Amino acid sequence: MGYSRRTLLVTGGLALLGLPACSVAGDDTADDGSGKVEVFSWWAGPGEKEGLEALVADFRQRNPGIEFDNAAVAGGAGTVAKTVLATRLENDDPPDSYQAHAGLELDADIEAGYVEDVRYLYDQQRWRDRLPKGLVEALTFDGKIYSVPVNIHRANLLWYNPATLEGHGLTPPATWSQFLTQAAALKAKGILPLSIGPTWTQKHLLECVLLGELGADGYTGLWNGATDWKGAPVQQALTLFVKVLDQSDIATAAGDWQPALDKVVAGTAAYNVMGDWADAYLRTKGLVFQEGYSVAASPGSEKVYNFLSDSFTLPRGAPRRRAAEQWLIECGSVSGQDAFNPQKGSVPARLDADKSKYTGYLALAIAEWTDSATRVVGSLTHGVVAGTKRSAAVDAALVLFVQDRDAVKFAAAVSG
Ligand code: GAL
Repeated sequence: MGYSRRTLLVTGGLALLGLPACSVAGDDTADDGSGKVEVFSWWAGPGEKEGLEALVADFRQRNPGIEFDNAAVAGGAGTVAKTVLATRLENDDPPDSYQAHAGLELDADIEAGYVEDVRYLYDQQRWRDRLPKGLVEALTFDGKIYSVPVNIHRANLLWYNPATLEGHGLTPPATWSQFLTQAAALKAKGILPLSIGPTWTQKHLLECVLLGELGADGYTGLWNGATDWKGAPVQQALTLFVKVLDQSDIATAAGDWQPALDKVVAGTAAYNVMGDWADAYLRTKGLVFQEGYSVAASPGSEKVYNFLSDSFTLPRGAPRRRAAEQWLIECGSVSGQDAFNPQKGSVPARLDADKSKYTGYLALAIAEWTDSATRVVGSLTHGVVAGTKRSAAVDAALVLFVQDRDAVKFAAAVSG
């Protein structure tokens, strides 16, 4: 896998926080024996709750004595959920498990001592042999592992309605400058070239434009220091991003990612850039892949998999620890992943999953993910390549950038 990560210095934090020795891995004194597990996620909206429900159904079957307490908080990319969760963790009120991503996103929670090292479960379940090496690396902080992956999503995708493109004699653009050429023609015909949603979807678009313009190495270098944010290639890519954004409905942006996709389905917008959870959502609307909707790599990113992985944690002080462990075992299992991912629009993290369960868009996704010629990079917006502070710096700078369009200022604010 082509992304990089920095080592986190988290050792010693527990002693500093004065946490008792009983919070070490394997301890179960915190288990209240209630036979319930409270799981916190942001999978409450259409296209996301179906995946969670399928995972929960499999969990129930394998754990009949444990009631599933769904603490999901709606809102794409967890923007609302993350705020609610932060308050709960600060107030020493953790759920039994919460959704996170593989990668640097978990750094602050690890430093704060909010999550436990679950390597003992990796050993017990032999997950290290059953997950891609690069994914295990992305999950490892200073030799420890704090979450269990349930899937692999792809972020760099351009969704469209085949009827709209055919109607205008277009095929998906291979580069962002081709997109701009198409956008002029589409606008002239009264079609919105690109639909967009809230700030996190703009950040998602930004990473896809940077990836398309800089290539896999240039993009990865943005996060490991090898690419100069103030250099000409990045500055040009940022200027292009603004031009792309000008082809969108940012002034009247949709409230979340699903309504932005609805415009593509309705044919009022030509394209939407979104991760492959879009596939799950579009199927909930009864649409069929390559008929009602289709997809291409976002411009300039053919054969690159900009990945992210949803993963679940074991919070320190989880009230029902044994049930939480059962949940994590479910997330990491073949049966859990093969129940969840076909509904979620993602491919399994497990190498030994049943590929025959993945059809339509997902058959293409799994072929691409498992092709050794595919380059893998990590998503910014969904937790892989930037830690909490850096990602928040991008969020703040992006709000200003879409207004003042000052690429030099933006680069200075986010170069890390
Ligand atoms: C991502 C998450 C996906 C999907 C998406 C939209 O951060 O990894 O599973 O939920 O947000 O909400």
